[in-house]
Amino acid sequence: MTIAFFELEDWEKDYITKNLTSHDLIFFEESLTDDFNSDLSKVEVLSVFIYSKIDKTTLSKMPNLKFIATRSTGFDHIDIEACKERNIEVSNVPTYGENTVAEHCFALILALSRNIIPSIEKVRRGDFSLDGLRGFDLKGKTLGVIGTGNIGKHVIRMANGFELKILGYDHKEDQELVTKYGLKYVPIDKLLQNSDIISLHLPDNPQTHHLINKEKISQIKEGAYLINTSRGGLIDTEALVNALTDGKLAGAGLDVLEEECNIKEERQILSKQFPKKCLLLDIANNILIKNEKVIITPHNAFNSQEALLRILSATVENIQSYILKNPKNLINA
Ligand code: NAI
Repeated sequence: MTIAFFELEDWEKDYITKNLTSHDLIFFEESLTDDFNSDLSKVEVLSVFIYSKIDKTTLSKMPNLKFIATRSTGFDHIDIEACKERNIEVSNVPTYGENTVAEHCFALILALSRNIIPSIEKVRRGDFSLDGLRGFDLKGKTLGVIGTGNIGKHVIRMANGFELKILGYDHKEDQELVTKYGLKYVPIDKLLQNSDIISLHLPDNPQTHHLINKEKISQIKEGAYLINTSRGGLIDTEALVNALTDGKLAGAGLDVLEEECNIKEERQILSKQFPKKCLLLDIANNILIKNEKVIITPHNAFNSQEALLRILSATVENIQSYILKNPKNLINA
């Protein structure tokens, strides 16, 4: 079988070569777009990331194409109707990093609860005194999880291990989390009023944009901490800056900031084609960065070796199962 891969990094080539033996493999670093010139006429299986544009024009370059394995969750870059017309099946990678993001969320929580950043900075300066470093236990505190979907449920599982009390808010309740981890679903105002730490795990859409605004912040328990590993747009940055300044919030742990470009899929950030201007920050974000009560990571929660490897191994599995005539993760089945 002739299999073409686009938008590949070197480590990915090595993995694919080891795991897809006895096939004709063709690798390209660039994305596949309408003006691509090399001969693709023999290609039967294609694998791309989101910067490739799979439309009628690109498809016409591959008369023998039967299967596309996108190395992404989203598939906006593929004309699914055009694929259907040509009986080309398409698979994606539905999930890969739920525990990864949840672990990062706890990295932020623990960094705040145990003053890890100032502790390290002090020791680097040769100062081993404990002044200003007293933290607080998680055990017995209340964590409010807003959004109990794929990532939220891993946060809840981990929170249970820390013996945190767990409140949840979601418009679709998951009763398994209630029985398994003692999660209690409550309306959002109750969650805000009663949580010592609030963690956001929702998509950013018109219903959730600026969910954490001035009014919602006024409901938050005095001295609580806010964690965001989802999307910057969930929080009104100005309201957050004010809440930190007036002491309403004791601190914040943020992996995402409001001014980032609309990122559909985290893996985009690692791509050479990701526009660098997307990482420019405005004044409110700069105020956050300089605030000692705030710790910020650069949208890095998804970025573990294992999560990236899961994308690739799921893609290889998608291709292998297609070849064995038992395709999985099909979008257009
Ligand atoms: P998910 O779709 O599995 O879960 C989202 C939950 O939010 C669902 O349970 C849904 O019912 C709930 N929800 C949606 N709209 C709601 C509303 N208006 N009111 C109440 N509940 C609502 O999503 P997942 O995979 O857990 O991702 C959560 C967030 O994490 C997303 O914003 C995603 O983009 C972000 N993310 C961030 C990463 C990072 O590296 N920082 C990596 C991967 C995802």
